[in-house]
Amino acid sequence: MRPSFNTAGPCLPGEHYMLPPERRLARVLELIDDHKYFTLHSGRQTGKTTCAFWLVEHLNVSGRHRAAWVDLQTAREQPDLDRALPIILSELDRAAARDLPSLARSAPEDVKALLAIPERAVLGYLSMLAARSDRPLVLLFDEADGLVGPAMVSFLAQLRAGYLDRSRESFPASVALIGLRPVRDYALAQAEGRTVSWLGTTSPFNISAEAATLGPFTRDEVGELLSQHTQQTGQRFAAAAVDRIFALGAGHPWLTNAMADQITARDVTDRTVEITAAHVDAAKETIIRERRAHIDWLVARLRDDRRSGHRRGRPR
Ligand SMILES: Nc1ncnc2c1ncn2[C@@H]1O[C@H](COP(=O)(O)OP(=O)(O)O)[C@@H](O)[C@H]1O
Ligand SMILES: [Mg+2]
Repeated sequence: MRPSFNTAGPCLPGEHYMLPPERRLARVLELIDDHKYFTLHSGRQTGKTTCAFWLVEHLNVSGRHRAAWVDLQTAREQPDLDRALPIILSELDRAAARDLPSLARSAPEDVKALLAIPERAVLGYLSMLAARSDRPLVLLFDEADGLVGPAMVSFLAQLRAGYLDRSRESFPASVALIGLRPVRDYALAQAEGRTVSWLGTTSPFNISAEAATLGPFTRDEVGELLSQHTQQTGQRFAAAAVDRIFALGAGHPWLTNAMADQITARDVTDRTVEITAAHVDAAKETIIRERRAHIDWLVARLRDDRRSGHRRGRPR
């Protein structure tokens, strides 16, 4: 299979053109090495999940840690503890089976028994898992900021309780909450905010220094990504086309790929034709016109460009 520009979900090595995620993860690797609990936050479609996949792979082969990626999207918008906690636990269990195959599995009865007290289920599960791990355990909770209400409060409180007690009971050495926001900006109602008043003070996620983020691609990186297509197919991008993609997308990972995909997979499929800035402008217009529903808010950024000239900045 030939690689292509990815416009749907996380990038997979070999399947998609991609920049090495590790380049964006120096701070994250430091935080993990220092056994920190932290948030990895950046805008939509900026490569968070791609980075998480790389981290799991890298940490598990490096031999110093055991790591698992836990996707919390199925628990989003579910405030009720009795509904959210079973989902979180089943995602945890699934992640452990997939990413930590060398560790003994939890017996289904044990997992079920933990759910008798949802307020302690995550704490109990993570203690058991960490106790079975022969190396420091790293957990990456993706879409963590999709949790809401009491479910969010309880999830954070259980991580905190385990963290504070970790000198006496096994618990993950490092936890990353991955989402759009740093933890202090998690959407909590006022009453819930009072319940977790320790957030931002004595919480494991206490200081902003322990928040990591993903920056946009630089002009050179956009050129590097595009050149992977040239290496594969021989089709060239004029320097002005690279400049134009960078000017329009401001290095936003998905926007960069979306323009490159529109051009190379649809508009200019003759590989002997060099891609120009005019092709980029045409691709931008098509993307705006098609208004692919789920990315409207991103496409709006391209439309802004049409009104206000070139823009720069961090991905939002
Ligand atoms: N390392 C990378 N190199 C090139 N493009 C990337 C990379 N990581 C992400 N992208 C682009 O960003 C899009 C979203 O990636 P994803 O990891 O799902 O982001 P998030 O989890 O932040 O929403 C991908 O479909 C791809 O277009
Ligand atoms: Mg994601």
